[in-house]
Amino acid sequence: MYKIAVAGTGYVGLVAGVCFAEVGHNVICVDIDEKKVELMKSGKSPIYEADLESLMRKNYEAGRLDYTTDFRAAYKDADAIFIGVGTPELPDGSANLSYIASVARQIAESIEKDCLVVVKSTVPVGTNDKVEQFINDFLVHNVKVEVASNPEFLAQGSAVHDTLKASRIIIGVESKWAENILKCIYEPFHLPIVTVNRRSAEMIKYASNDFLALKISYMNEIANLCELVGADVKDVAKGMSYDSRIGDKFLNAGIGYGGSCFPKDTKALEYLARQNGYEIKTVKAAIDVNKEQKLAMYKKASRRLITFHGLKVAVLGLTFKPGTDDLREAPSLDNIPLLLENGADIYAYDPVGADNFKKIYPEGKIKRGTITYVESVEDALIDANLCFIFTEWDEIKGLNPIDYKKHMKTPLVFDGRNIYEVQQMLDAGIEYYAIGRKQ
Ligand code: UGA
Repeated sequence: MYKIAVAGTGYVGLVAGVCFAEVGHNVICVDIDEKKVELMKSGKSPIYEADLESLMRKNYEAGRLDYTTDFRAAYKDADAIFIGVGTPELPDGSANLSYIASVARQIAESIEKDCLVVVKSTVPVGTNDKVEQFINDFLVHNVKVEVASNPEFLAQGSAVHDTLKASRIIIGVESKWAENILKCIYEPFHLPIVTVNRRSAEMIKYASNDFLALKISYMNEIANLCELVGADVKDVAKGMSYDSRIGDKFLNAGIGYGGSCFPKDTKALEYLARQNGYEIKTVKAAIDVNKEQKLAMYKKASRRLITFHGLKVAVLGLTFKPGTDDLREAPSLDNIPLLLENGADIYAYDPVGADNFKKIYPEGKIKRGTITYVESVEDALIDANLCFIFTEWDEIKGLNPIDYKKHMKTPLVFDGRNIYEVQQMLDAGIEYYAIGRKQ
C-alpha cells in the first residue's frame, strides 16, 4: 500500500483521499485552513455529501486517514501527491491556476524522495507539462519527480459512490514509471483503466463534461421547440433513450445546468479554443442556450402575470441540483434577484441550501421585494399566489398535486424540473407550466 498525500479538501481532494484510505492506502489530506482540518479530525465533513462522514470516521479511527496543515511533513516522504485544489473561472473564462501553482511550489520545496505528483483538478490542456517543469525548477532536494494527469468524474451528491465505482480511471502519463505507480494505487478499486498521454487525459475531462453540457442544452432546445409544435419533451426523450448510441442519461430538459463544473468547463474549453485560434461553435452554443434557459420559467410567469409586485411567491429548491448544498451557478441565483427587483415576496424552501442562500440574500427586504426562508414545502406554499420549482429534491417530488391546490391561494405552478405529469396537475385543478410539455 502507498503513502499518499492529497492537497486540497474540497469535493475532489477530500473524496479522493477518503476513498484511497477506504481501499487500504495510507492517506494524509492537506489543507491551509486550520479550522477545516480540526473539523475533519473531529469526524465532520466540510462539504455536504452522502456517505462521506461515515467513511471519514471509519478510516480516521483505523489510522489510515489523517488531516494536516503541515504540508512539509505530509509531502516529504509521500509516494504520490494528488492535487485536488480548485481551478475557478476567471472573468475572461480561463481557469485560475494560482492554487495549483502554490501547491506545486510547496511540493518542490518539501519532497525528500522520488515522488509522483498527480493532478486531479480540472486544468487546461498543457498545464501538467508546466506543473512538472515548475516543480523541477524549484526542487530543493535531488529527487525524481514526475507529473501525471488523473481527472476526476465524480458528481456532487453521489461523490463517494462515483469514486469507488467510477466508470473509468483515466491515467495520463509520459513514462512507464508513472503509469505503474498509478496502476498500483488504483488496483484495489478493480475499475477499468484507460492509459493515455497527459494532454489527452486533460482533454478527456473537458470533452466529457462539455459533451454532457451539450446534451443538456440540446434537450433544452428540443424542449423549447416541443412547446411550439405541440410535442412533449419527456416522451421525446423516452423515445430517444432506447437507442443505445444516445443512452438514457442526461436527457432531462429543465432550467439549465449549474454547479461548479459544466458552466466553468464549457467556458474554459471555449477559451482554450480561442487561444489556439479556433472557434468551438458547439460548446459556444451550449453556453448561450444555457444562459437563456435559466430564465425560461421566469419568462413564462412574466407572460402570464401583469406584475410580481406584492405577490407571495413560493420558491421550492435553491441549490443547482438535489443532494448538495452548493449554490454555484444555480438557476435560483438568476431568478430570485429578478423576482425581488419586481417586488415579489418570496418564501423560499430548500432542505439543505437555505443557509448558504441566506449569506447572499439575508432574510428581509431586498430591492422592491422581500425574502423569507421556511422550514417546509408546505410553509412555502401556504397562501402563495404562485410557485416556482427550481430543484427536484425528493421532498418536493414527493408532494401530492392536491397539496398545491390545498395550500396555495391561487394554484399557479411553474415547474423548472418537469417533476409532475401535466394531466395529473390539471386534474388536481392546478394551472401548471413545465418545460417542453403540452400545457
Ligand atoms: C458534473 C459531471 O456530471 C461529473 O461527471 C463531473 O465529474 C463533475 O461535473 C465535475 O467536473 O466535477 P455535477 O456538476 O456535480 O457533475 O452535477 P451533474 O449531476 O452532472 O449536474 C450538473 C447540472 O446539470 C445540474 O444543474 C443538473 O440539474 C443539470 N442536468 C443534469 C440537467 O439539467 N439535465 C440532466 O438531464 C442532467
